[in-house]
Amino acid sequence: MKTPANVYTDKLKWDDRYRRAGDTIGPPWPLVVRWAAKLAGPVLDVAGGSGRNALFLAEHGLEVHVIDISLAALQVLARQRRERQLQIFAVAADLEQFPLPRCRYGTVLVVRYLQRSLFSAIKAALRPGGLVLYESFIEDQKAFGHPSNPAHLLRRGELKHAFSDFELLEYEEGLLEDTTPAYLARLVARRPFTCDTVATP
Ligand SMILES: C[S@@+](CC[C@H](N)C(=O)[O-])C[C@H]1O[C@@H](n2cnc3c(N)ncnc32)[C@H](O)[C@@H]1O
Repeated sequence: MKTPANVYTDKLKWDDRYRRAGDTIGPPWPLVVRWAAKLAGPVLDVAGGSGRNALFLAEHGLEVHVIDISLAALQVLARQRRERQLQIFAVAADLEQFPLPRCRYGTVLVVRYLQRSLFSAIKAALRPGGLVLYESFIEDQKAFGHPSNPAHLLRRGELKHAFSDFELLEYEEGLLEDTTPAYLARLVARRPFTCDTVATP
């Protein structure tokens, strides 16, 4: 678990990055585009940033909730949401502290955010039969220089193992193409159909 001081430093870094990017929002994540038609709402976008995935999914008719620590990111999202006349619920919060609701979501999305202490809360936040879509960097990414902090890098096989009590629908790991090549683990998995079969926080 990060100290409050580390979390605050991260928040300032992300605020600065989002302010410098202005209203530029990247394209939605390819896995989200590929799975969009099969996803059920409401969708929780964990550490969803300025909403490249949330906006896309809301445009496809899904109710989307975004949590992120960066107010600057959520301000960009709010402007886009207004412009496109979409309804997206956004919460500025530190996920190290913020409790996720239980048995609430049809889909939980995590793109390029790793907080190991959140794995069990993500599972419990899903309704039975709900899907988790998760992508984050693996330790080989250090070869590209960023990120290099082990707290932000999955070990090989770690993501698959973390969701081994879920039904695995898709998994890949290694040097993967997205907008640029990166060492990633990518998982789509389904929560079992009872509320008491997954580890709870
Ligand atoms: C690499 S970005 C990914 C953003 C988004 N998922 C995407 O794919 O565009 C990581 C995000 O994590 C957020 N973040 C970092 N630490 C956080 C924390 N403790 N609580 C909530 N969000 C956090 C940052 O503000 C940033 O938006």
